[in-house]
Amino acid sequence: MMLVAMRLLLLVAAVVVAAEVVEERATYIVHMAKSAMPAEYGEDHGEWYGASLRSVSAGKMLYAYDTVVHGFSARLTEREARDMAAMDGVLAVNPETRYELHTTRTPEFLGIAGGEEGLFPQSGTAADVVVGVLDTGVWPESKSYYDAGLDVVPSWWKGECMAGTGFNSSACNRKLVGARFFNQGYEAAMGPMDTTRESQSPRDDDGHGTHTSSTVAGAAVADASLFGFASGTARGMAPKARVAVYKVCWLGGCFSSDILAGMDAAVADGCGVLSLSLGGGAADYARDSVAIGSFAAMEQNVLVSCSAGNAGPGSSTISNVAPWITTVGAGTLDRDFPAYVSLGNGKNYTGVSLYSGKAVPTTPLPIIYAANASNSTAGNLCMPGTLTPEKVAGKIVVCDRGVSARVQKGLVVRDAGGAGMVLSNTAANGQELVADAHLLPAAGVGAKEGTAIKAYVASDPNPTATIVVAGTQVNVHPSPVVAAFSSRGPNMLTPQILKPDIIAPGVNILAAWTGKAGPTGLAADTRRVGFNIISGTSMSCPHVSGLAALLRSARPEWSPAAIRSALMTTAYSTYTGAAGSLLDAATGAPATPFDYGAGHVDPTRAADPGLVYDLGTSDYVDFLCALKYTPTMIATVARSKSYGCAENKTYSVANLNYPSFSVAYSTANGQADQDGGATTTVTHRRTLTNVGAAGTYKVDAVAMPGVTVSVEPTDLAFTSSGEKKSYTVSFTAKSQPSGTAGFGRLVWSDGKHSVASPIAFTWT
Ligand SMILES: *[C@@H]1O[C@H](CO)[C@@H](O)[C@H](O)[C@H]1NC(C)=O
Ligand SMILES: *[C@@H]1O[C@H](CO)[C@@H](O)[C@H](O)[C@H]1NC(C)=O
Ligand SMILES: *[C@@H]1O[C@H](CO)[C@@H](O)[C@H](O)[C@H]1NC(C)=O
Ligand SMILES: *[C@@H]1O[C@H](CO)[C@@H](O)[C@H](O)[C@H]1NC(C)=O
Ligand SMILES: *[C@@H]1O[C@H](CO)[C@@H](O)[C@H](O)[C@H]1NC(C)=O
Repeated sequence: MMLVAMRLLLLVAAVVVAAEVVEERATYIVHMAKSAMPAEYGEDHGEWYGASLRSVSAGKMLYAYDTVVHGFSARLTEREARDMAAMDGVLAVNPETRYELHTTRTPEFLGIAGGEEGLFPQSGTAADVVVGVLDTGVWPESKSYYDAGLDVVPSWWKGECMAGTGFNSSACNRKLVGARFFNQGYEAAMGPMDTTRESQSPRDDDGHGTHTSSTVAGAAVADASLFGFASGTARGMAPKARVAVYKVCWLGGCFSSDILAGMDAAVADGCGVLSLSLGGGAADYARDSVAIGSFAAMEQNVLVSCSAGNAGPGSSTISNVAPWITTVGAGTLDRDFPAYVSLGNGKNYTGVSLYSGKAVPTTPLPIIYAANASNSTAGNLCMPGTLTPEKVAGKIVVCDRGVSARVQKGLVVRDAGGAGMVLSNTAANGQELVADAHLLPAAGVGAKEGTAIKAYVASDPNPTATIVVAGTQVNVHPSPVVAAFSSRGPNMLTPQILKPDIIAPGVNILAAWTGKAGPTGLAADTRRVGFNIISGTSMSCPHVSGLAALLRSARPEWSPAAIRSALMTTAYSTYTGAAGSLLDAATGAPATPFDYGAGHVDPTRAADPGLVYDLGTSDYVDFLCALKYTPTMIATVARSKSYGCAENKTYSVANLNYPSFSVAYSTANGQADQDGGATTTVTHRRTLTNVGAAGTYKVDAVAMPGVTVSVEPTDLAFTSSGEKKSYTVSFTAKSQPSGTAGFGRLVWSDGKHSVASPIAFTWT
């Protein structure tokens, strides 16, 4: 009897639990085919969206979208989402995804700095361009948003200055022309936000959004620096351009329903460029909200610039790869912040630091490796609560990079009583030095130096060291160097498109900061700074966004693809003062187009590229046809049933008029052909548009050994501006083992301009 009752009780409990699971709601983005809207709704799409939602669910609608997406986001159960997907007029019901900011501050603090005096020219004023920055908001009191000397806001601008926690609608001006926030998706997923910890308004509690938006278009601010480091005049890439901020990223991340709402508003408001220093998992284009929103932006002549990600130096780590997005990797500047670690054996190693407090004594202090001062198996990482105070008190502690934030390791050492820290790169970071405003005397050192210092500590019975922080050093060579953290190709989603497109400064970048957080972003950091130095592709992306604003203003007739083409074909892949390739900070060896795409951006040349590879909506639809996307998937991306693939047409990704080439050969049965085996020829077709004077261009193409390149025709004579000429390029190669990669370069030149495209070859 007893037993039966208990079983019953268990059963009841199980049923209750199951019911709760079934009823759990999550956020979905519902894409609708506007053309399928019943006539009874007239022009009222919102009413149709609402009725469609109510017919399957009592869940809440978060946003109705109208500009970059036709549809809405809502809270649905899994079953309701399935029912919704089966309804007439519904194209897709995509689960919400969470995107992350492309700074390594969490989990590993990275930084970026804008306003490199002299690095970018002041050509073009861009006062007629508004750049929309989708990020963590803005600190409007920063001098970077002073609007002195700027004309009134263009009358076509439709943006808004939304008031909220600690943010007045009067915070906007002629520089900061819009500020909105989007948190419906965030709160639906995470619960009501803690307004003591974050501002329910466009105010930036983090610093990231203030940094990126001031890098895009910050006004010139004299005597800017972080504790005296990198001092000089800080200014954005397009100091006359306007900025509108769309706060879509919160403490808990950036939710796709909020990102889409931000993009929807930004395009409707009239932004000419969108800057997104964030990314998510590589879903296909029809499920990636940033890709979908960017497609509509492109269609409305808005250039979308996104960060490539900080998941390098591993290959195939790149994000934001849609061909209608400009994908930006990161390189170093010719500026450094040296710190010297001198050991008791007389050896002296150079590292990097932005530490600004009381110096370590010049008398040598004992030094210990964290792995030997910890009760944890990962003690070398200086994770919270892993250092033994008796072993580190008064000593310099050597910690390895990885897992936790670099600045947090310093805090752990300080809290355990350590006097200083040597932060050693591991093989993954190589020789790349990312500077931090540590809370204790500290120096970051390369993997080689770290290994040597640890060897000394292990071999000397009483090892000692001093750390001296030496300030700012300029004219550092070689530079730029591809940042180790910068995400790399090949492109896993569409191997026939080379990504990233380009690199720009993203290491140790100075730009404006929030008053709500210290330079390290750690809660324990009570320092407040007007400018901060951080690193990441989050920081390189806004450099390109600002340059795109300058180009838009200088060449208003150019499409987003033409602007990207100009930036790419004029980029350089040789480093200052030396022949050869750009180097890779991770290895010290030459980098490849998988690391830097077309190369490092060269703003002066980008304004006069000679020729451009142009692209428009129908080209990108053809690209989706070549990928065999279904009509529904194409309508989800392109929002119109009228775009489609013709049954009798042959589509090829190779013919997308992209300014770079990626030739993906397949290795038959995973086996390389023997010598004398058959060759495979892949032909790409391209069309160049003359955007300069009349002239004859000649081609020069080189490729890796074993690949023959032939271009037809080899001369293109342009008689007028706007004229288009096509050519084909064929790549003939014998099969190579799977995993082989190689590179080449194709350049059209009239003696004055060189229109250069990188080529990547892969065998899979
Ligand atoms: C907003 O404006 C009011 C009235 O002008 C002022 O008292 C308040 O300090 C302002 N708040 C902020 C955050 O600027
Ligand atoms: C270490 O080297 C740097 C750069 O060469 C030099 O400026 C510094 O004085 C040296 N420190 C010691 C203790 O030798
Ligand atoms: C390891 O050491 C820390 C610091 O002394 C201490 O708080 C922690 O309890 C220790 N953990 C173990 C497992 O001994
Ligand atoms: C750490 O301690 C072990 C065991 O005492 C020793 O063999 C090793 O050399 C030490 N390593 C360092 C870097 O001090
Ligand atoms: C392809 O089909 C369309 C309509 O189905 C027709 O108008 C067109 O002429 C065809 N093109 C070719 C090359 O057959």
